[in-house]
Amino acid sequence: MTTAEIKYPKRFLDLNMNSPVEDSKLAYDEMAACWEKISDNTGYKGHILCVEAFDRAMQAKDVYSNPRKDMKILDVGAGTGGIGEMLKARGYNNVDALDISQEMLNLAASKNLYKKSICAPLIDTHMKEVETAEYDAVLCAGTIVYGQVKPGAIEQCARFVKPGGLFIFTIRVDSYDPVEYGYSTTCEKLEKTGKWLKMLKERRELHATPNEERLRYCYLITYKVLQ
Ligand SMILES: C[S@@+](CC[C@H](N)C(=O)[O-])C[C@H]1O[C@@H](n2cnc3c(N)ncnc32)[C@H](O)[C@@H]1O
Repeated sequence: MTTAEIKYPKRFLDLNMNSPVEDSKLAYDEMAACWEKISDNTGYKGHILCVEAFDRAMQAKDVYSNPRKDMKILDVGAGTGGIGEMLKARGYNNVDALDISQEMLNLAASKNLYKKSICAPLIDTHMKEVETAEYDAVLCAGTIVYGQVKPGAIEQCARFVKPGGLFIFTIRVDSYDPVEYGYSTTCEKLEKTGKWLKMLKERRELHATPNEERLRYCYLITYKVLQ
């Protein structure tokens, strides 16, 4: 296989609604060394989209009344640090990383992007690794998708954010659109109960040159947490 042909391997492509979280860890541990090559070759843009939404929110002065570069941010499913790198370039200096794969986190750590690295799966029950309302903003690119993260984990992400803070994420349309998978209904339930307010939802290209067409599009979503 030439370098240009390195794309998502079978173990990743096989992840489905019934995959245990351990399969996602194995897939990313296996991909870690060539993740950035895979990302380049598939034209992956999750980190760029999330930081774009973050920039847009920061420019809308009504989101944070007094935005500071030391605001506490969590990058969920941080991988090798795509988001961390872009936030560091913007001067943010209080960013933590959470990821299921220690191999991915090791690569991020070598770039000195994060204050703290948490190796843990994002799950749909209480996660002791993160306090309630610990973060001003939580960003999550390419991570909440069937086969990797259960829909109920979205409620954990909402829990991590302080009232007034933001949760920004991408989710592939093939996870979000089928109502029976539960991702869209979980988001809407949190809107209906007043937990958060939708500020942005756009259909965007996630991979410019994916292995398979189902990987091409995502939604880029921003919620403002209210309580
Ligand atoms: C597509 S990569 C995206 C990496 C990074 N966010 C970016 O945009 O460059 C998905 C990341 O999510 C992590 N991941 C997958 N399932 C996870 C889970 N259940 N909990 C936490 N992290 C998970 C993987 O290890 C991987 O680093």
